[in-house]
Parts: sequence; C-alpha cells; structure tokens
Amino acid sequence: MCGIIGYVGHREAAPVLLQGLKRLEYRGYDSAGVAIFNGGGIEVRRSVGKLSNLEQLLRDDPLHGSVGMGHTRWATHGRPSEANAHPHRAGKVVVIHNGIIENYLDLRHELSAKGRTFSSETDTEVISHLIDEYIIGGMTFMQATRAALQRLQGAFSIVAECESEPGKILTAKNATPIVIGLGEGENFVASDVPALLEYTRKVIFLDDGEMAEITREGVSLSTFQGEPITREPRHITWDALTAQKGGYKHFLLKEIHEQPQAIIDTMRGRLLVNEGDVSLGEIEQHAEVLDAIKRITLVACGTAWHSCLVGKFFLEELARIPVEVDYGSEFRYRRSPISPDTLVLAVSQSGETADTLAALEGGKAGGARTMAICNVVDSSIPRKADMTIYTHAGPEMSVASTKAFTTQVTALYLLAVHLGRRRGVLDQVTSRKLIEDLVNLPNQVREVLSKDKLIEKIAKKYGHARDFLYLGRGVNYPIALEGALKLKEISYIHAEGYPAGEMKHGPIALIDEQMPVVVLLPKDPVYSKTLSNMKEVEARGGRIIVVTDAPSPELEEIAWEVIPIPTTNYLLMPILVTIPLQLLAYHIAVYRGTDVDQPRNLAKSVTVE
Ligand code: AGP
Repeated sequence: MCGIIGYVGHREAAPVLLQGLKRLEYRGYDSAGVAIFNGGGIEVRRSVGKLSNLEQLLRDDPLHGSVGMGHTRWATHGRPSEANAHPHRAGKVVVIHNGIIENYLDLRHELSAKGRTFSSETDTEVISHLIDEYIIGGMTFMQATRAALQRLQGAFSIVAECESEPGKILTAKNATPIVIGLGEGENFVASDVPALLEYTRKVIFLDDGEMAEITREGVSLSTFQGEPITREPRHITWDALTAQKGGYKHFLLKEIHEQPQAIIDTMRGRLLVNEGDVSLGEIEQHAEVLDAIKRITLVACGTAWHSCLVGKFFLEELARIPVEVDYGSEFRYRRSPISPDTLVLAVSQSGETADTLAALEGGKAGGARTMAICNVVDSSIPRKADMTIYTHAGPEMSVASTKAFTTQVTALYLLAVHLGRRRGVLDQVTSRKLIEDLVNLPNQVREVLSKDKLIEKIAKKYGHARDFLYLGRGVNYPIALEGALKLKEISYIHAEGYPAGEMKHGPIALIDEQMPVVVLLPKDPVYSKTLSNMKEVEARGGRIIVVTDAPSPELEEIAWEVIPIPTTNYLLMPILVTIPLQLLAYHIAVYRGTDVDQPRNLAKSVTVE
C-alpha cells in the first residue's frame, strides 16, 4: 500500500519527507513525490522508480519550505508513471492518497462536464479537483475538504494542502491507516509509525471517519461532519524494524492478519449485491471474447498453482466452463491443443515468475486469449496478458505467500460468478447468496485468526515432528497441498498434501505415532467420506489434527487436536480452512527457529527457470 508523510514545523520539509518515505520503502512502491510550500505557492516534484530518483530531482531543483507532504505510490489505478505519481494538483489544491475511490469514474465524468481536465489515470486526482471546485465555490479549505469527503466512496486516507491557506495540512482517514506525530513546534502525519520515529514517539491514530487540521502550533481532530474529537496521545515503544511489521514479530504474521482487509480490498468496487452480480470493469471490454471461450487453462507456480486448483472448482461449477490446471513450468513445454476459444489464465502474485510468464506467452503464441490475475500493477505478466484482474493484497514482503493466495482465490471466485451470470448458467438468487457469503467472509477470517493461541499451542506440541501429512477432499484438496507447502517452505519439515481418498493407495503406509496428520474436514458433501479416512488414520495410531466447522464429541474422540472454524458455502470454505494452516506453519517455524520471512534457498519471485 502507499506510503504517506506530512510535516509542518521549523525544519526544512524536504529532508524530513524523504527520510520518512525511506522508512516506508518496505511497503513497496513504483513512484514517489513531494509537495512543499516554498513561501509563494506549493511546488511539486515527482519521479518514477526508486526514491533515489526523487532525491536526485530535489538536488537538481531544490524545494525550500517547512510545510509539505510526500508519497510513495503502489499502483492500483493507472500504470506507474510520473503523471500518475502523487501528489496530484488541481488549481490551488494538492492531494496525496492511499486507498481506492470506487466512484472515481462517476466523479471524473461530473468534473469533466464542468470543464475540468485531468492529467493522470488515477482515482486520486478527482479528490484534488473536488476540493478545488468547492473552494472556487466559496468554501474554506476545511469546508471544501469535508464536502469532498462526503462524495467519496471506497477506501481513502488523504493528506492535502491548499495555496490559499498556507501553514497547514489537512488529513482524513477512512479504511487505510493514518497516524499523527506530535512534536515540539512541529507536527507530522504518516501512513505508518516507522516514518515518525526519528522525530517523535508521541502519536495519535485516527479512526475511520476522522480528520485533522495540522499546524506547527498544534493538531485539531474532528469527524468528517465537523464534530470535535479529543484523544489522548499514545507513546510508541517499538523500534523501527518492529514498527515496519506493525508490531508483529514477522512480516509473515502481519500479512496473515492482513487477510481480512486484503479480501475486502480485492472485492471492493466489484460487488453488485442487489443485482446478485460481479462487475469486473477491467475485463468488460473483452466481453465478446470471453463469451466465445469454451475452455480455460489456468497456469501458475507454487502457491498460485494451488489457488488455480481451487479456481477450477469455481469456474466449472459456477460458470460451467471446462478447466485444466497446469504448472507454468510444465505447460510451457507441453504441446497443448490451443485455439482462439481457449483462455490461458496466468495467476501470479509478483507478475514476474519466469515459468508462468513463459506459459502465458506460449498460450498467446498458440492463438489463445490470455488473462492474468496479479498483485503487482504493470508487472511483466499483466503487460503480456490481453486483460488483467488485479488482487489488492498490497505488497507481500514475506517469501511465503499468504494474503496473495487468499486474494487470488477471491479474484477467481469473483470471475466465476461474473462469467456464470454472463453466460446465463448462474441464477440471480444463487449468485446473490454467493456474494453475500463473500461479503461475510472477512469477519469469518477474523474469527479464525482469533484461534491463534490455540494453534500456537498445537504447534509447540507437534513442532518436533519430521514429517507431516495433510489430507483434504474436493475443493479442499488444494488446501492440503497449500498447508503442506507452507509448512515445508518455512519450517523445513517434510510435508505432503494428498487427496483424502488416496489414503489407501499408498500414503496409509506412512501412518504411525510419529507423523501428525492434518485433516481438513468441513461439513460439505464429502464430509462422511473424509471422516472415514480419519478413522483409518486413527486406527493405525496416527495423531490427527482436524480443522472443521462441525466439531463434535465423535471428532474429539478420534482427533488429538480439533481446530474449530466458522462455516460458509462449501466453495468458500477453502479460504477459512487455509488460515489455521498458515498459522500452524508459522508457529512451528518460530518454534524451530527458522528464518520465517526469508527461508533458506527461497526467493520471493522466481524470475529464472
Ligand atoms: C509460496 O509461498 C511461494 N512463495 C512460491 O511458491 C510462490 O507462490 C511461487 O513462486 C509463485 O510466485 P508468484 O505468485 O509471484 O508467481
């Protein structure tokens, strides 16, 4: 997600802003910029790429002044470019923003009709124009900002400056974090604590629907509607590195806990709840092409390949389209029969995985239509695909993929509903229920995350094991694979995921008291079959850890450990079932003392064969 820093005080603003942005670099970004009052007006400097480019720009063409703001952009709308970099100016107003404005196109059309012209592809720029429009209409900067905030739908935290009211910056928070730093004769605002720690540990966190006017003399808080707010400052004790992890011990744990918000951000602006439909604006221009598709080949690697195995169930059951799933490294060398009615869909967090990219290119060369599901805007795979659906998980810093996985599954679910409705094979009543279940999912994920202490206890009991077996059926078989991959890649324990029905065809020979067996047992159409497999394991002394939305005395009898989770429709259960497995892998890795965020031999993005 984007990085925000703002400053009002007695120092030169430029160095403070650059230092603050450097402390936020870990969040990932593709461009950066600053806006500083230089006595006469506000001047803006922006650059693509690393912060060093912005630093060079400011060396070549310095900006002096003690009021300013800075931003590092993680692109969500509009490719990485100088024109799309923040801050965005309109008339007297300059704005930086973190989040997604869902109704920006409507606002853009409304403002264009008033003669406004836009210089970027971003959703952010409409905020600058809205505030400026209200100021021209006679409002003060604060009044205009409040009026503009009332028009915005979506996730937004903003910092704004206005040339007609120097010496202050305004900030507002809705969904994405804003923290205010309190100094002596100087005050700060940022998207995250690390940007402030050089200067102050005295902070105030804004809540959703709150804003602040910041001057060097002080900070006044209010609601968007103007109700005054008083809030006691907090004292931050974290060191800078801990602060980058939001207070969590590892990025991996932070990202596991970010999944409710990541799922919300990935479905944001795409749900038509009343119509029981999904709007995917980014692919709608290819509607006729998609209507002609008769077969889908999903290609990916690692965890992304597991999300494809889940996606196969979604697309076949909801959109009635035959789907095959292949590793990127396999598909690229296969001579698969491809035609224009084939869609090759590449799924990738980084958008840079060499085998997945090569598979997509091979499909395209063979005449297939191509699509990407990706978490990094304008990376290699989306640039090569005919169309892209972006997940909005934000930067994933830990090598082990967690929030990228659950948002990939979310995106595949959205695509399946969209295609099913478009093809007339998914009725509105069913679809509305599928969408309502998705809307409820983030809170259910939070409920599973609340089992963290139980799972940590289980991890300590079984963390010494040398082998693990994970069993799942149907749409949860891919989660058995994912749970095994998470464990092996961060704890270095050998682990295998298997279809539960395959037990008798070999793996049952492995069962003994030394090997924990994780069984995924949602109350779904194959529950009784998987329960039978559990009993086969138990009869041979296996130590079962069961993940289920249907705990019972019978299960307590058979399993050594029971991890209860909430229930949802059987197609979405894989997301809820995955969370305990991520936490189990994490706590076992911590127990074994491995390098949780940077496991040995692994890279975050495998950009070579
Ligand atoms: C999963 O935890 C690993 N980090 C790895 O398997 C990863 O999923 C795979 O390399 C694919 O990466 P991508 O999603 O960036 O294409």
